[in-house]
Amino acid sequence: MTKDSSRAPGRPRRLRAALVLSAVGLLAVAGAVVLPGSASAATTLGASAAEQGGRYFGTAVAVNKLNDSAYTTILNREFNQVTAENEMKIDALQPQQGQFNFGNGDRLVQHARSRGMQVRGHTLAWHSQQPGWMQNMSGTTLRNAMLNHVTQVATHYRGQIAWWDVVNEAFQDGSSGARRDSNLQRTGNDWIEAAFRAARQADPNAQLCYNDYNIDNWTDAKTQAVYRMVQDFKNRGVPIDCVGLQSHFTGGSNYPGNYRTTLSSFAALGVDVHITELDIRNAPSDAYRNVVNDCLAVSRCKGITVWGIRDSDSWRSNESPLLFDGNGNKKAAYNAVLTALNSGNPGGGDPTPAPTTPAPGGCTATITPGQVWGDRYNTSVTVSGASTWSVVVVITAPQRISATWSGNPTWDGSGNVMTMRSNGSGNTFGFTTMMNGNSSARPQIRSCTVG
Ligand code: G3I
Repeated sequence: MTKDSSRAPGRPRRLRAALVLSAVGLLAVAGAVVLPGSASAATTLGASAAEQGGRYFGTAVAVNKLNDSAYTTILNREFNQVTAENEMKIDALQPQQGQFNFGNGDRLVQHARSRGMQVRGHTLAWHSQQPGWMQNMSGTTLRNAMLNHVTQVATHYRGQIAWWDVVNEAFQDGSSGARRDSNLQRTGNDWIEAAFRAARQADPNAQLCYNDYNIDNWTDAKTQAVYRMVQDFKNRGVPIDCVGLQSHFTGGSNYPGNYRTTLSSFAALGVDVHITELDIRNAPSDAYRNVVNDCLAVSRCKGITVWGIRDSDSWRSNESPLLFDGNGNKKAAYNAVLTALNSGNPGGGDPTPAPTTPAPGGCTATITPGQVWGDRYNTSVTVSGASTWSVVVVITAPQRISATWSGNPTWDGSGNVMTMRSNGSGNTFGFTTMMNGNSSARPQIRSCTVG
């Protein structure tokens, strides 16, 4: 008689098989299949994203389609987050001043929360989709009406919304880096922070986001302008928790190679980042895969929302930009996304300017990213814990430091390692780096030494 060496000691074979089968059954319900001897692979987008550090994979939902069973079947199977495509916009929620219509928004929230999906609220303050009564307002009257809308809506949904797009699309496209002209902007430059403060007061547990499009390319003036606003808000204690990158990639604005730098740079300010309205012209698998990998590589990237389920649901359906075709079939891009999610964090996305670990009695050097132009960018470094110091900064070739200020620099033979010594002008020094074709690398601090 031969001995079955694969048999686990102390457990009859039939019982063991039953246990394995019931484990498969349980995990299949949760969107994952485990085969004996193989690693788990989630089989739906939401389940797979959840396995990646509790992220979400969501979709915009049109509430009137919840009666379409083909639509709802995919929604309920694949996604663990929803955003109302139109039903929580200002014109939908307050069509007449003082008369709120929460019916459709409530229906979506109920549908989502009863199935464990998180809800993103979109959007409290926006120049577009304003009801007629608001479009005709200006000055203090408009400011107060906007704040009242924020307060009423965030209060109604208090405790049910995970993230609010508090302000949407407040910056201009192009090279100006300016705020978008709108009736809200004309009430005073502080309208955005006023909206954030009102939202925090109404729902202290919701995460408050600024949301915009064309802020995907790190070197674009619009991206830099939003970055500086978020940096300023963080410095002054304005309650902002997250930035939403809509990421509508189309012929005019494609997936940029420095997208991961954009995500990690915002994250380095101490806010979460969200990809809030993803769709990509013709749904190329590569671009979808890159977006997923970039998000997974940045620990503060909390999730991805696609802007619709089937191509036929899209606001630009003629570009077929989504993950399911008009018949609800999974497209190649769907498989690319699911595979990327299941493959996990590719790494390399958290070059957050880490302060050096201070030696006992030592100093700490912290990087603050500065202005970025097409071919160069500025960096400043602040030293704490010492009044005389030397800080070693490493840059990535072919980048090259072209100018420095407020310190005495020396260089190693490669030209990539700069030692900056204090020169009595204070504890912050700075420098300009030429990109020389590499727009994504950023300087790192190697050490900070007292004296
Ligand atoms: O429901 C009415 C219908 O009754 C009417 O017959 C029809 C005729 O015009 O209009 C229908 O409403 C349209 C609505 O979509 C629902 O389909 C509106 O006109 C149309 O303006 C609206 O477009 C929405 C657009 O925002 C408006 O701002 C899109 O669905 C929606 O996908 C889009 O979403 C925006 C985000 O909120 C912000 N970021 C950009 C994104 C894409 O534009």
